[in-house]
Amino acid sequence: MLAGKQQLQQSQLFSLKGSILTLAILTFLSFSYFSFKSLRPSLPVSSPTPQLTLLPSDPTSHVHIAADRKESNVDEGEDDNDDSDLFTDIYHSPKLFKLNFEEMERKFKIYIYPDGDPKTFYQTPRKLTGKYASEGYFFQNIRESRFRTDDPDQAHLFFIPISCHKMRGKGTSYENMTIIVQDYLDGLIAKYPYWNRTLGADHFFVTCHDVGVRATEGVPFLVKNAIRVVCSPSYDVGFIPHKDVALPQVLQPFALPAGGNDVENRTTLGFWAGHRNSKIRVILARVWENDTELDISNNRISRATGPLVYQKRFYRTKFCICPGGSQVNSARIADSIHYGCVPVILSNYYDLPFNDILDWRKFAVVLRENDVYQLKKILKNITDEEFVILHKNLVKVQKHFQWNSPPVKYDAFHMVICASSVPNTKG
Ligand SMILES: *[C@@H]1O[C@H](CO)[C@@H](O)[C@H](O)[C@H]1NC(C)=O
Ligand SMILES: *[C@@H]1O[C@H](CO)[C@@H](O)[C@H](O)[C@H]1NC(C)=O
Ligand SMILES: *[C@@H]1O[C@H](CO)[C@@H](O)[C@H](O)[C@H]1NC(C)=O
Ligand SMILES: *[C@@H]1O[C@H](CO)[C@@H](O)[C@H](O)[C@H]1NC(C)=O
Ligand SMILES: *[C@@H]1O[C@H](CO)[C@@H](O)[C@H](O)[C@H]1NC(C)=O
Repeated sequence: MLAGKQQLQQSQLFSLKGSILTLAILTFLSFSYFSFKSLRPSLPVSSPTPQLTLLPSDPTSHVHIAADRKESNVDEGEDDNDDSDLFTDIYHSPKLFKLNFEEMERKFKIYIYPDGDPKTFYQTPRKLTGKYASEGYFFQNIRESRFRTDDPDQAHLFFIPISCHKMRGKGTSYENMTIIVQDYLDGLIAKYPYWNRTLGADHFFVTCHDVGVRATEGVPFLVKNAIRVVCSPSYDVGFIPHKDVALPQVLQPFALPAGGNDVENRTTLGFWAGHRNSKIRVILARVWENDTELDISNNRISRATGPLVYQKRFYRTKFCICPGGSQVNSARIADSIHYGCVPVILSNYYDLPFNDILDWRKFAVVLRENDVYQLKKILKNITDEEFVILHKNLVKVQKHFQWNSPPVKYDAFHMVICASSVPNTKG
């Protein structure tokens, strides 16, 4: 991603565009770009025999990249100083992430279309709580952030500030939502030259929940061309890997403080409680509901059970099972991360948030749905030492799954922007 972005910037910087030197550099950069891309898994699907890899994956390739980058003479970050503890092996390439992030902070710019009445569906941040919190924070953060530019000529990306779930709040039908989205977009395309330049490839919109997914489905040229930053990136909602960006769904504020350094209190092997609204959830409940070591509840834990009973379970559990839901994924993954319970991703098709940056296998257990039948065996096979490493790494990623206003370095907002800066540079 970084090399791709730099390729773009390099090409703008060089005035001797046709020169052999430039060509050679571009070729070299695109070569290192592709070799980097190929290192990263596009989808964390476990091998048929699940196993944990707690060692840095393929360290030689990282060395290779670092060397590539040095030779290509793009600006190197400062030596690891105060941040050195931060850049550990929870990333595919800590060094590249650090450089990429700094580059993004320095240069990356986003233009927000000013059109649309904020009192209706446009521009407006929602309240920063509940299941739409991630969408609300994004709308708020982008305005507060250093990435915003009022000069479209400076922009790397264009934000289409439409907020579909507000339409739902007004009782608008899905058909009418589609018309509203289409009209708004047609207006932008007619008024500004930017969409036509790339047919929308450098445009993006944000939606956290199925309302937005359904409302935009009827505008295929939007969904196909623009980057969709979306909370429900299971492939059956038309998620396009390497174009779309998975937005983590985080229910904030959290009811209880973050977990960490508390492995001795984690006496339950595994935990899940929720709606059985997907095939994998039905199977999970059916297979494990009476198990004495896996705490699998057939039903959602209601508030009536007592204050914060659901959240407190996360503190006592080593592994929190996160099976895919009916369409949207719940906030369970972010909850598990916050409370320090190692998430067990149980899904065949799920593009995990920041998957291109974070190495999920360092702080989560990523399984296929078929593994549900051996779930206990797989979890018991993870040694205490391995669990402690997973747990420690999990604490390190907590900051990436937290929204703030104003946004702070390395939080969910910055990670989304970092992940979004990937697709637009692929040309
Ligand atoms: C949809 O839009 C039409 C035309 O504006 C309107 O008459 C109708 O009441 C709308 N329906 C809903 C459910 O919003
Ligand atoms: C962009 O292209 C569309 C379709 O060709 C056209 O209708 C529209 O006027 C163009 N926009 C601008 C600003 O030229
Ligand atoms: C473990 O649980 C006990 C009882 O809830 C609590 O008082 C203690 O602070 C916990 N220990 C850690 C390290 O969180
Ligand atoms: C779990 O226990 C209930 C009640 O005893 C029983 O009806 C059910 O069949 C059991 N499920 C499994 C998978 O053994
Ligand atoms: C148990 O772990 C070992 C080594 O980590 C691995 O080779 C094996 O496949 C695992 N077995 C199961 C059932 O997960």
